[in-house]
Amino acid sequence: MSDFSKVKGVLFDLNGIITDSWAYHSKSWQEIAAQLGIAWSSQLEEGIKGRDRIDSLNAILAAGGMADQFSADQKEALADKKNAIYQTMLDKMNPGDILPGIMPFLDELVANHYKIIIASASANAPKEIRKLQVESYFPLIVDLKEIRHNKPAPDVFAKAAEMLHLAPDECVGIDDGMVGVESINAAGIVSIGVGDPKVLKEAAINFMTTRELTLANIAQAWPK
Ligand code: BG6
Ligand code: MG
Repeated sequence: MSDFSKVKGVLFDLNGIITDSWAYHSKSWQEIAAQLGIAWSSQLEEGIKGRDRIDSLNAILAAGGMADQFSADQKEALADKKNAIYQTMLDKMNPGDILPGIMPFLDELVANHYKIIIASASANAPKEIRKLQVESYFPLIVDLKEIRHNKPAPDVFAKAAEMLHLAPDECVGIDDGMVGVESINAAGIVSIGVGDPKVLKEAAINFMTTRELTLANIAQAWPK
């Protein structure tokens, strides 16, 4: 296990960590599910949180017993429809949507010379960072075109560490979803899960909310 004093980089998931845009993703998918007559459940919600667009759609169709009923083109059209709904919500996003504790944490990291990067599964990440006006903190965002597999595979977080020129044991990753925590762990990076510890059981460190994200709290919770 890595030592906290070695850590030089912090890898951030975006939706659910920097901002609560997960709520917008969820609402957009719920509209699609309702149009298809698929019942929504908290289990389905947790299962798709952090998954990329097409994987999310496949999981929703499978939950409704419709996995084989759509061609690739039809699925793409449904995914585009969801993204169009999401984009209308995204257009209203502003710095007021940044989650509590995040700005002080980013300032603390910068003041202490940590490197930071966005490791999101979302193709909309660059636009969200602009809308939230935190581009100066995050000139670095993992480009999904440069990875083979999205979360829960390790690629996004492994690429983020590589872009910071750091080894996995010099980083810590933060995510609010099961698939994100799985991705961080698979990359050999210490994971911080933000949210219900019963859901994020695999996280090395758990905080209930983004308010608890401070260097002192992370150091104290660091796995021995
Ligand atoms: C993740 C969200 O950040 O991005 C998922 O948690 C979403 O819900 C995924 O499906 C892909 O996002 P987008 O913006 O590329 O559809
Ligand atoms: Mg997330």
